[in-house]
Amino acid sequence: MARQLQNVLLADQPVADRLGRPLQTLRISVLDRCNFRCGYCMPEDALSGRQPFVPRRHWLSDCDLERVVRACVTLGVGKIRITGGEPLLRPGLVGLVERLAAIDGVRDIALTTNGVLLPQFAELLAGAGLNRITVSLDSLDPEVFHRMNGGKSSVAQVLHGIAAALQAGFDSLKINTVVERGVNDHTVMDLLSHFRGSGHAVRLIEFMDVGHSNRWSPDQVVPSREWVQRIHRRWPIEALEEPPLGRVARRYKYCDGAGEIGFISSISEPFCGGCDRARITADGRLYTCLFATRGHALAPLLQETGSAQALEARIGELWSRRGDRYSEQRHALGLIDTDDAEPKSQRVEMYRIGG
Ligand code: GTP
Ligand code: 5AD
Ligand code: SF4
Ligand code: SF4
Repeated sequence: MARQLQNVLLADQPVADRLGRPLQTLRISVLDRCNFRCGYCMPEDALSGRQPFVPRRHWLSDCDLERVVRACVTLGVGKIRITGGEPLLRPGLVGLVERLAAIDGVRDIALTTNGVLLPQFAELLAGAGLNRITVSLDSLDPEVFHRMNGGKSSVAQVLHGIAAALQAGFDSLKINTVVERGVNDHTVMDLLSHFRGSGHAVRLIEFMDVGHSNRWSPDQVVPSREWVQRIHRRWPIEALEEPPLGRVARRYKYCDGAGEIGFISSISEPFCGGCDRARITADGRLYTCLFATRGHALAPLLQETGSAQALEARIGELWSRRGDRYSEQRHALGLIDTDDAEPKSQRVEMYRIGG
């Protein structure tokens, strides 16, 4: 940790948190609804019996989101990631992307999607200035896919979405694969084989204990090092150099030139030391960690009378007070379910905070 922190202490950043980490990435969850019901994120049965979603009248408008992004850019943000729920379900998303992409200082604007609506939107998104697309796809086995994603779509539809993104000019996608032991791990090698040589980088993601309804347990996690060894035996791979700051995936390349693969190992090898990410929910709550129990409402500062300076000062203050390093702390406790150690039941759900 100490070494990581030394690496990330950057003198020329407008704002740094208590651990010296700058604010460089903003993840915006544009709505918390989804047309999938992935068990690790939004299991169907966890939604019944209460209003689980933010009412639309509470969503920040495009104009307010633009104001938030402008404030964050002044504080050092250059990377924006649009998430959900499923972001392509938000009416007018293309217009929002266009607005945010045009902001001076936004260097990179990316989208994480389940892919099924890409045939409708990929070309429009390219025209709006979106730089990158990441598609979630947990298995190519139709039955396994169906089981993991709540039976709402099909592998064929997601592959069709990927093809549409390619057609629209997004030529190197990232493919996110959440791995659950005993559920889809036996289909991972097939998925890797499919995407080798395609120009798309698959990232194998350790199932994380986000939110409180996904029934996470440590024995469902396949530590990335198991994959590294297994993949290396079949197709030799080699680690790539990583910047210390902002890294989520540990990247490798196939030695035979078949492209890249990434490992997102929040459970077994946490990466909080370089965490430069703030998150905002559809109703305008700012979270300084994916595992936070509390968000900070920005809506009051977005009233008509609210000034850009006040908004910037508030976000800057929240960031400078930040000391979050949840994954590192849970790692220090061992690979255990932290239910007893802290109030998991109050943690924000994945589909609300957007991953
Ligand atoms: P780029 O690096 O810009 O391509 O984006 P990304 O990989 O950060 O974004 P994506 O939405 O594809 O997220 C991939 C996985 O990493 C998801 O499972 C996220 O929940 C997880 N993730 C992203 N940021 C963090 C983080 O700060 N902490 C933890 N624990 N997980 C994260
Ligand atoms: N653990 C790991 N990754 C998750 N995602 C959603 N829930 C989890 C979880 N519990 C992933 C999705 C998507 C990204 C935003 O987060 O698959 O690709
Ligand atoms: Fe929807 Fe993505 Fe959550 Fe699956 S992981 S339910 S696709 S938001
Ligand atoms: Fe950042 Fe929190 Fe994830 Fe650590 S657990 S990398 S602090 S979001």
